Amino acid sequence: MTKDEGFSLPRHIAVIMDGNGRWAQRRLLPRQAGHRAGLTAARRLIEACVQRGIGALTLFAFSSENWRRPQPEVGSLMGLFMNALESEIAELHKNKVRMRFIGAREQFSAALQQGMRESEELTAGNNGLVLNIAAGYGGRWDLLQAARRLVGEAVSGRLRVEELDEPQVSHALALAELPDPDLFIRTGGEQRISNFLLWNLAYTELYFTEVLWPDFDAAALEAALSWFAQRQRRFGRTPEQTRDADHA
Ligand code: FPP
Repeated sequence: MTKDEGFSLPRHIAVIMDGNGRWAQRRLLPRQAGHRAGLTAARRLIEACVQRGIGALTLFAFSSENWRRPQPEVGSLMGLFMNALESEIAELHKNKVRMRFIGAREQFSAALQQGMRESEELTAGNNGLVLNIAAGYGGRWDLLQAARRLVGEAVSGRLRVEELDEPQVSHALALAELPDPDLFIRTGGEQRISNFLLWNLAYTELYFTEVLWPDFDAAALEAALSWFAQRQRRFGRTPEQTRDADHA
């Protein structure tokens, strides 16, 4: 955790940006308008994280299950992602953001895969906010690809099974060397993890809000951060041990 204006800030925030469709429906607009407004909200949150010096932000932009949505919605989301990559990358780079994409990217079009690769390469040397965009991502997919990699290493003799430990599993996952999220935010009222970062959220503080994603503004972020600052994170210890460790 980092200190900002006297209270604890999360080092890493993970977000499920839910509620774009309902936001649009309530305005009698097509769902696509909700996703466009969702992109504006994502840009706003990224800027806020840059300004506050948050280390990492992981946004769930498209889950492995989202491919099951009606084809026109999937198509328009892909168009939105492509435009967003092209229009946002210069500004992100200027702000020293390091971009990474996590998920089964081979399922995306060649043009989108190229856009992802180029954005990662362009921003690889930046030392500001690490921005992970989860696209075609699923927590089970992540664990499965880690298992495949580790089993491969064991079969080839580079890994001794009895020596496999938690840090090695963490490193084989998509977020690899990043610290686990301190704060998880889900907008839109549902209280589920929905196959997001299953391993990495083990000790994360989980914050759920009714606010629909396009309405997630500075005040909504402030509410989430103040809620987080009041949590006592024990990691399996007793409240007394935790207080002693905090004051050490
Ligand atoms: C969930 O709302 C949102 C999505 C599946 C897409 C998320 C995409 C964006 C926010 C825009 C792009 C952002 C980035 C960072 C590239 P929903 O459609 O499930 O809403 P509903 O539950 O109200 O139907």
